[in-house]
Amino acid sequence: MKPLNVAIVGATGLVGLEFISILEERNFPIEKLYPFASDGSLGQTVTYKNKEIDVIPLKVEEIEKNKIDLAFFSAGAGVALDFAKDFARNGAIVIDNSSAFRMDDEIPLVVPEVNGGVLKDNGSKIIANPNCSTIQLVPFLQIVEELFGIKKVVVSTYQSVSGAGKKGIEELRTQISDLFSFKEVKPEVFLQRIAFNLIPQIGPFYDDGYCEEEVKMINESRKILSMPELDIDVTTVRVPTFFSHAETVWMELKKECSINELHRRIRENPEMVLMDDIEQLLYPTLIDSSGRDEVFVGRLRKGREHKNTLSAWIVADNVRKGAAYNAVRIAETIFGEAND
Ligand SMILES: NC(=O)c1ccc[n+]([C@@H]2O[C@H](COP(=O)([O-])OP(=O)(O)OC[C@H]3O[C@@H](n4cnc5c(N)ncnc54)[C@H](OP(=O)(O)O)[C@@H]3O)[C@@H](O)[C@H]2O)c1
Repeated sequence: MKPLNVAIVGATGLVGLEFISILEERNFPIEKLYPFASDGSLGQTVTYKNKEIDVIPLKVEEIEKNKIDLAFFSAGAGVALDFAKDFARNGAIVIDNSSAFRMDDEIPLVVPEVNGGVLKDNGSKIIANPNCSTIQLVPFLQIVEELFGIKKVVVSTYQSVSGAGKKGIEELRTQISDLFSFKEVKPEVFLQRIAFNLIPQIGPFYDDGYCEEEVKMINESRKILSMPELDIDVTTVRVPTFFSHAETVWMELKKECSINELHRRIRENPEMVLMDDIEQLLYPTLIDSSGRDEVFVGRLRKGREHKNTLSAWIVADNVRKGAAYNAVRIAETIFGEAND
């Protein structure tokens, strides 16, 4: 694979910085790296392979004058809507982490190990990266669907503050420190105090009582799995932890599941880690998944009353597996791996 000119739009953000370290770790062939951010980051640098690179304020002229082959976007939906098409028009493949294009019928929404096939013969220059909570859910749903058939899925999430970017981390850190200093705490990023609290809302509410994050997970799971009728219900909760998201998943199945068979399929999957042995008190926690690229699965059990039901606990690093790593794997699916 020939080295590419690669842009990262949102390079100073949490996901942007993770992009840089993953590209470096995977030795992704880069001719030149273009780190874009807002005007506010003018004068800042990012470090790639021990070199300081100046951050470039995002402007159409900068997109037009540089021959960029691949642009990773992690700067929110507004920036993606304003600039992704400029990169695409100038010849780049754009992989966007925001919700801007995810539900567009013309644009593939991809978790490579689940539906990477949709990238073949697809002419779209823009590819959407799913929501972090969806990315860690769908590989497990796909395995269960293939083995036992899914009738219904009910998910609850436990989502760390890093899901809201740099400012989310800062808000929890500041609130914890202020509370220990007996100072008053004023929520700014999250709608309620997040320190020592749980908030059962992520994003604005719709009229039917569901919040935006719940609707994203429902719609995106159906699209990625090509199961438009999937019966899935979600409750999303922000929790006062820094990195990784956890999910409890309850499913009603078309036939009784075999936990052994499920174990085998998860063990065979290089993008998953099975930690499921209660005799050894073995199950994944956020500490196991943080800094890792796999989806961690444990607490697998059949229902006590209804044998055709299954419960699971799924954990993954939202900034890596749920964002930057998935996007880099999409790029590798399109352009080839480093040593191809
Ligand atoms: N955090 C996660 O777990 C996660 C997971 C999946 C998807 N995502 C998505 O990834 C995107 C970034 O999230 P994040 O967590 O990295 O947020 P973040 O830490 O707040 O970083 C946002 C980045 O966007 C840049 N930016 C903001 N406005 C801009 C503008 N007008 N022009 C150019 N650059 C601009 C910021 O630049 P400055 O530093 O100059 O402000 C910064 O580099 C969001 O769409 C988010 O939904 C995040």
